[in-house]
Amino acid sequence: MSGFTIGIIGGTGSMGRWFERFFSEAGHTVRIAGRRTSLSPEHLAKKSEVVILSVPMGAALSLSKKIGPLMSRDQLLMDFCSLKETILKAMLCHSSAQVVGTHPLFGPFTRSLHGQNVIVCPGRGKNWLEWLERELRERGGIVTRMDPAAHDRNMAVIQGLTHLLTICMGRTLQKMNMTLDETIPCSTPVFRIHADLIGRLFAQDLNLYADLIAENGYVGEAVETFFSALEEGRKFLLSDQKEKAAIFLDDIRRFLGNFCQTGLKESNIIIDAVFSE
Ligand SMILES: NC(=O)c1ccc[n+]([C@@H]2O[C@H](COP(=O)([O-])OP(=O)(O)OC[C@H]3O[C@@H](n4cnc5c(N)ncnc54)[C@H](OP(=O)(O)O)[C@@H]3O)[C@@H](O)[C@H]2O)c1
Repeated sequence: MSGFTIGIIGGTGSMGRWFERFFSEAGHTVRIAGRRTSLSPEHLAKKSEVVILSVPMGAALSLSKKIGPLMSRDQLLMDFCSLKETILKAMLCHSSAQVVGTHPLFGPFTRSLHGQNVIVCPGRGKNWLEWLERELRERGGIVTRMDPAAHDRNMAVIQGLTHLLTICMGRTLQKMNMTLDETIPCSTPVFRIHADLIGRLFAQDLNLYADLIAENGYVGEAVETFFSALEEGRKFLLSDQKEKAAIFLDDIRRFLGNFCQTGLKESNIIIDAVFSE
């Protein structure tokens, strides 16, 4: 199957533009709608075989209510929201179309889909689900099917906690009155990568990051676990009990297993790339 009509609501935004190019290059006809485009979301819902909601969560929920009833069983309604439980329920509730929750785990700066992860949460129907998986895999994407609640729980750590720690590291530097510029002459390669990641977050849409943390109901639990880990770290590493510190570290290393070697290898590649720029 190829050459479908795909309507991207939010096609004027950064992910929408990325996927407009992606699906056009794959031979499909792509039409887009934003808030000020000549084509409306309603028009796309009626005239497209595949309709993608590439808008912030709040807008995706109200749009699925608005356009869902306009769609039929042989169309596909999908979204790119970073959380999947609520939006999947809304799309299923307001439409009889086939439904797939989709989360591209990369941003609009990514050059190609090659090697990038995409989570799909099956909602309703098989044909379009399999079509989407094929489209993504054929262009090098790594597609994983996942239950929406399991997805959101994973994202509480992968996005929520991770971004919260980056933000709080920025806050710590601010409290200590250390600007990133000042740290550069005395940076180690590892700190330089951390500094880049802090800068990267604050260079982008801060509302998006705030939403990734605030809207995921599982983040609170992840933060509590992190606090208890930090407390243990303080207890074992900020004292003179060298033996206990070694046991603490070794216990974590055993848990992390073989990925430690992978991490060492991959981070050496990142460091070499940054310093060869
Ligand atoms: N950026 C990322 O790294 C990333 C990665 C994975 C998933 N996502 C998800 O992808 C979705 C889009 O993110 P983005 O980064 O592309 O956001 P964005 O650049 O801010 O674009 C948002 C798009 O939504 C449109 N929009 C907003 N409210 C609307 C409404 N009420 N009706 C119709 N269109 C509306 C905007 O249209 P206007 O042109 O009229 O403003 C724009 O086209 C979000 O759900 C986000 O969580 C983002």
